[in-house]
Amino acid sequence: MKNAILSAKGLCKSFAHNGGQIHILSHVDFELYKGDFTVIMGASGSGKSTLLYALSGMDRATAGQVIYNGSDLVKMPEKGLAKLRYTDFGFIFQQMHLVSNLTLFENIAVPGYLNKEKSAAEVKARTEKLLEQMSISHIKTHLPSQVGDRR
Ligand SMILES: Nc1ncnc2c1ncn2[C@@H]1O[C@H](COP(=O)(O)OP(=O)(O)OP(=O)(O)O)[C@@H](O)[C@H]1O
Ligand SMILES: [Mg+2]
Repeated sequence: MKNAILSAKGLCKSFAHNGGQIHILSHVDFELYKGDFTVIMGASGSGKSTLLYALSGMDRATAGQVIYNGSDLVKMPEKGLAKLRYTDFGFIFQQMHLVSNLTLFENIAVPGYLNKEKSAAEVKARTEKLLEQMSISHIKTHLPSQVGDRR
């Protein structure tokens, strides 16, 4: 039988609200298999982002299990979650979340530098390649505020 690469069992997420608790996710079971392309659909405010945050170690579920590579993300220390976020999970946010005082080059390179498995030269080469692929090499020394959409 195929093993899920990511699974949730009885996942619950509540937030403190007006002195009480507001329950956003209630006993969610979920399985993701290698090669899957999965879409989470639901009304605005139904908890899609909250679910994604809990499944990816961005936030911690209130109860239940999130199993990734044999480890429960709900119980994993913050340091372990931080490492997973830059080694194993990729995020594309609606907002860019760029570091405003770092250049575009530096913003792209930061996860590579944090993940000490690659040398500085390798990270630099990979960053240059990504900049080229995205056709933004010519603005790599710009700050985020100096490019693109400034709404
Ligand atoms: N940190 C928080 N504290 C309190 N309530 C929160 C918090 N984060 C989210 N919520 C509430 O949880 C509910 C689900 O929010 P969530 O952002 O997960 O919805 P969503 O399905 O992603 O919505 P959208 O389609 O608008 O992106 C909302 O009612 C939201 O107000
Ligand atoms: Mg959302």
